[in-house]
Amino acid sequence: MLHKLLIGTALATSFAFSAHAADVKEVQMLHWWTSGGEAAALNVLKQDLAKEGYAWKDVPVAGGGGDAAMTALKAMVAAGNYPTASQMLGYTVLDYAAAGVMGDLTETAKKEGWDKSVPAALQKFSVYDGKWVAAPVNVHSVNWLWINKAVMDKIGGTEPKTFDDFVALLDKAKAAGVIPLALGGQNWQEATMFDSVVLSTGGPEFYKKAMNDLDEDSLKSDTMKKSFDNLAKLVTYVDPNFSGRDWNLATAMVIKGDALVQVMGDWAKGEFHAANKTPGTDFLCYRFPGTDGSVVYNSDMFGMFNVPDDRKAAQVALATATLSKSFQSAFNVVKGSVPARTDVPDTDFDACGKKGIADLKKANEGGTLFGSLAQGYGAPPAVANAYKDVVSKFVHGQIKTSDEAVTELVKAIDDAK
Ligand code: BGC
Repeated sequence: MLHKLLIGTALATSFAFSAHAADVKEVQMLHWWTSGGEAAALNVLKQDLAKEGYAWKDVPVAGGGGDAAMTALKAMVAAGNYPTASQMLGYTVLDYAAAGVMGDLTETAKKEGWDKSVPAALQKFSVYDGKWVAAPVNVHSVNWLWINKAVMDKIGGTEPKTFDDFVALLDKAKAAGVIPLALGGQNWQEATMFDSVVLSTGGPEFYKKAMNDLDEDSLKSDTMKKSFDNLAKLVTYVDPNFSGRDWNLATAMVIKGDALVQVMGDWAKGEFHAANKTPGTDFLCYRFPGTDGSVVYNSDMFGMFNVPDDRKAAQVALATATLSKSFQSAFNVVKGSVPARTDVPDTDFDACGKKGIADLKKANEGGTLFGSLAQGYGAPPAVANAYKDVVSKFVHGQIKTSDEAVTELVKAIDDAK
């Protein structure tokens, strides 16, 4: 695994990082939290660490979904330049752990009782070979709609419960001259939306078989074809300038009322929060039609590197702060996500956050909590990238039919395995 991770590392990345010996009183963090809402959430952490006497050495690498950040991380690790921690998604943590470059936070975890408070679904990705290698920050979920309330009222829309309802709602927006669907045409955004479409089209069991088990019969099934057809339908409601648009600019279209709805993970709510918007009054959060009862999740983890001994105290301070109950509430209220521990009260969360917490609990207990394939929790990065690539080619017309799409998907996933 080590060679797979470290080979072919290009240093020509867009981040600026000086290779000075890291100060023992600083926390050096690589992340892709560069939007308004994300930066506001990160500030909560910076402030908590400042109180403990730790300075913040920011290594931001813009690009939602984290692909650019992960390229930058690879370069740093290959150069032996370990950050104190890096934002990471599921299977990436396991890859770095297998490469032997992660630290061991088990002592801190024991002292803080993480085993009891962090859900098993997250421990699967933060514990490797019996050792805690990452601190989970939050739980996001992707199967959401974010709707501008004023536009919804203007068109007389109601909550869509099925995919057909959703199409009818988008038609209403179109008839009223509003952009129905705000989308950023980047592969990770398209694939994140497609996660929800697959769940809605095929149901929970199908989602698991296709998107987590990578069962070939499911991947090439009529249900998967229908999922691509449904995706094609949604893309007809997007404005002509969507290619390459950043996710937070798509969210801004909904916040401003230029568009009715965005299908996006609940980091979108961080943007509404940063714009002082209130759920129920300014915007509405609904589960993607036909997916209520299931949660397609991802979780930001702070992967902890095996830093030299004199930098470990800073790492322990970071890990302890990250999983403290007060931080889990304060940070996630701003971020749009829900806590990575099961014992944090929902008191300070808005209505969408409360729903997110309740939905997660229900899905976890009912066996309908699934990893997002687009967001690093369905399969290892190579497979996820193959998936994002096929979905994006389909959205942008390089793959023309759903028949062709499923054939390409099976082939790309096979090659990536
Ligand atoms: C991360 C979120 C982040 C989003 C957009 C996702 O992969 O889990 O924390 O806000 O990307 O940048």
